[in-house]
Amino acid sequence: MSLSRAEFFFIKNSVVLSCFKKASVRNTNYVPNISAKFFSRLTGNIGIRKYSSTRLESLKWFSFNSFPKRFYSSISTSTSSVLKVKSPSTSSIVKSKWPLNSHKYVGYLCLFNASLVFSIVILGGLTRLTESGLSITEWKPITGSIPPLNEKQWEQEFEKYQESPEFKQLNSHITLDEFKFIFFMEWSHRLLGRTIGMLFVLPSLYFVARRKVSLQVAFKLMGICSLIGFQGFIGWWMVESGLDAEQLAERNSKPTVSQYRLTTHLGLAFIIYSSMIYTGLQVLKEFQIMKNPEKYLVIFKQLNSNKLKFFKKTAIGLAILTFITAMSGGLVAGLDAGLIYNTFPHMGDNYIPSTNELFSPVFSRLKDQSDIWWRNMFENPTTVQLNHRILALTTFFTVFAAHMYSHRIKSLIPRNAYITMQAAMGVAMVQVGLGICTLIWLVPTELAAAHQAGALTLLTTMVILCQQLRKPTMSNMILLKRFLEKNVTDLAKKNNVLK
Ligand code: HEM
Repeated sequence: MSLSRAEFFFIKNSVVLSCFKKASVRNTNYVPNISAKFFSRLTGNIGIRKYSSTRLESLKWFSFNSFPKRFYSSISTSTSSVLKVKSPSTSSIVKSKWPLNSHKYVGYLCLFNASLVFSIVILGGLTRLTESGLSITEWKPITGSIPPLNEKQWEQEFEKYQESPEFKQLNSHITLDEFKFIFFMEWSHRLLGRTIGMLFVLPSLYFVARRKVSLQVAFKLMGICSLIGFQGFIGWWMVESGLDAEQLAERNSKPTVSQYRLTTHLGLAFIIYSSMIYTGLQVLKEFQIMKNPEKYLVIFKQLNSNKLKFFKKTAIGLAILTFITAMSGGLVAGLDAGLIYNTFPHMGDNYIPSTNELFSPVFSRLKDQSDIWWRNMFENPTTVQLNHRILALTTFFTVFAAHMYSHRIKSLIPRNAYITMQAAMGVAMVQVGLGICTLIWLVPTELAAAHQAGALTLLTTMVILCQQLRKPTMSNMILLKRFLEKNVTDLAKKNNVLK
């Protein structure tokens, strides 16, 4: 039997649309009463036998469960086009001037810049650990990219440093050569920051201006660009807290940056990094859907299952918990709290130091001591270290529990998400080991930097897991549908069934 193109689509769309209609009425995981035999009668004769069994199953599911309710309940029953929709929200997606999917280079751009952010975080950690962070006493966003070029300029730069509290109180013995080293560390950190700004912001503006990204991704790119700009400001705000003698006197601190500002800077870096990874993977996923729609049909079917809800929430919770643990680590680093209580699991004679020590009135600044609780939580090195231990172990055991749970529901989880969960377990084990070694060996630079890298790696696995478990978006579904239809048509064409 040979069918015209119009006949072919009429039959195919009738089947799919009748399913939509029934699904919208019943609002359940309705399985239609169309037998594989019937479907193969429609398609088999025209040479698409493969669609008769397994692919029919996928198409059935796709028709009923894949679209959000508000989408399929408003599908028109017209057979002229499967995507003829009445809902304003969906039709706005279809009619929008922005593409449904973004250019794959946007995905590469995000992931490449995420790797640069990873590097700058480690470089920032090394800058802090080598006590180089306060060597440049000014913030000149443009001209600061050029380092001193001759001895005279180096002398001038050194003179400026000699005015700083750090030189006066801690580094008065430092030579010009030693100064050059700490200057170079801080300068490279700032230069890499500028480079990331250029390498991310300019291409993002181009992609958005040329509408090579979906509207949602355009918002995300612009959001990340703003965060990068804001990070430059936060970086200087942090450095300033270690250069200003008044602020240091108020904090009653040696010349180091405020632990609050250090943690804010670290936290924002983690947020920028996670957003880049998440957006990059989202874009590449859209690209993969087009390349391999049938594989994603199966994955989306799994992701739509209610049985996966708990695991999805666990993954999001774990990402948040990892982030909070990392921020508590930032406080430990900012207060040099890793230099006390260098034993594990004990802190001194016990697992937990005495309450008097944990909530010492020394840290309170108000007469009625009403701030004693929170000041100790954030400013007392003993309490801050204990908090980091508790949060770290909670993160570890939650990852462990999620990993065990993932074994139990292995058949329900997409394979890639299952593998990521196993990887997260491995990274969590290494990270706790690194943390303990960093502590008991009194924070050696290499171990502390590796521990920081471990925290970012653990967060990466969590972000990947969340992306892999994310329910398909409406545009994902529309893309998938288009490309499945295209496959059917291509197959039909290949078999010379369309006139
Ligand atoms: C899930 C587990 C953990 C995560 C995500 C984590 C995260 C972090 C982060 C992000 C930092 C800041 C690094 C920096 O800014 O230089 C840090 C510092 C630190 N962490 Fe952890 N940590 C974990 C487990 C542990 C454990 C179990 C210990 C030991 C009991 C530990 C001890 C330390 C110490 C001593 C520092 C200060 C290092 C320094 O001064 O540079 N961590 N942690």
